Order: sequence, then structure tokens, then C-alpha cells
Amino acid sequence: MLDIRTPLLLIFLSLLCACSGDSEPMRQLSGPTTPTDARVAELYNRSCRSCHAQGAGWAPRTGDLQAWAPRLQKGAPVLLEHTIDGFKGMPPMGMCFDCNEEDFTKLISFMSGG
Ligand code: HEC
Repeated sequence: MLDIRTPLLLIFLSLLCACSGDSEPMRQLSGPTTPTDARVAELYNRSCRSCHAQGAGWAPRTGDLQAWAPRLQKGAPVLLEHTIDGFKGMPPMGMCFDCNEEDFTKLISFMSGG
């Protein structure tokens, strides 16, 4: 039987993992890394992918749900705004100048695991 200590232990272990930020690019990806939608795939491959596949410049990697979790907590509207306006190392529009808001919403959702 699981008791109350089990979830606490899991939280503790996940915090330990979160601290070892240097090894972040080595973490196994748990989400999809290829879009199923053809238009999303086309846009992703020629813009977001160049940075988000490898995690260039601290970009959260596509499919790395752990890296995306704190970002998702900001809420979808904030992430959309940061994608359009830019955010630190993230360039405005993610270098996809023919993407519309719906495209960005789909891209963010795909990259963050679904
Ligand atoms: C030139 C590299 C580059 C490209 C191209 C790029 N990104 Fe990013 N992106 C980044 C970096 C770096 C960050 C991390 C910024 C930070 O928090 O320091 C980031 C962060 C993000 C975030 C999280 C913002 C937040 O508030 O935490 C989203 C969402 C995002 N990118 C979406 C996209 C989408 C969608 C595309 C394609 C249309 C894209 N990015 C293309 C580099 C890039």
C-alpha cells in the first residue's frame, strides 16, 4: 500500500533532479518531438525547431515536459504573448513571420507535450 510518505518522497526526488540544471539537455524526452499536423510540422521544422529541438540558449526542449511545466504555469495567454513579442533569448514570433495566433497556440501546445 502507498502511504502519505510515498508522494512526499517523489516530490523530494523530483526537486533533487530539478536542481541539477546543468544536466538538463541530457534528460530523456517524455513528449512527442514530431508534430502530427502537417501545417504545424512545416512551421515547426523551419522556425521553432532550430532552437527548441536542442535547447539552444536555454530554450525549453520540445517534448521535455519537465522543462515546460514551470512555463505552462504562467498560463497559455502569457506564453502566446511571449512568443509573439519575444522573451529573453526567445526572438519575437519565434522567427516565424507568417505564423498566426492559432499556429502559435498549436506550436506551443505541441512543443510542451500536447
Ligand atoms: C532563435 C532561437 C529560438 C527560436 C527560433 C524559437 N525559440 Fe522559443 N525560446 C527560445 C529561448 C532561448 C527560450 C527561453 C527564454 C528564456 O526563458 O530565457 C524560448 C522560450 C519559448 C517559450 C516559453 C516562453 C515563456 O514565457 O516561458 C515559448 C512558448 C516558445 N519559446 C515558443 C516558440 C515557438 C512557438 C517558436 C516557433 C514559432 C519558437 N519558440 C522559436 C529560443 C527560440
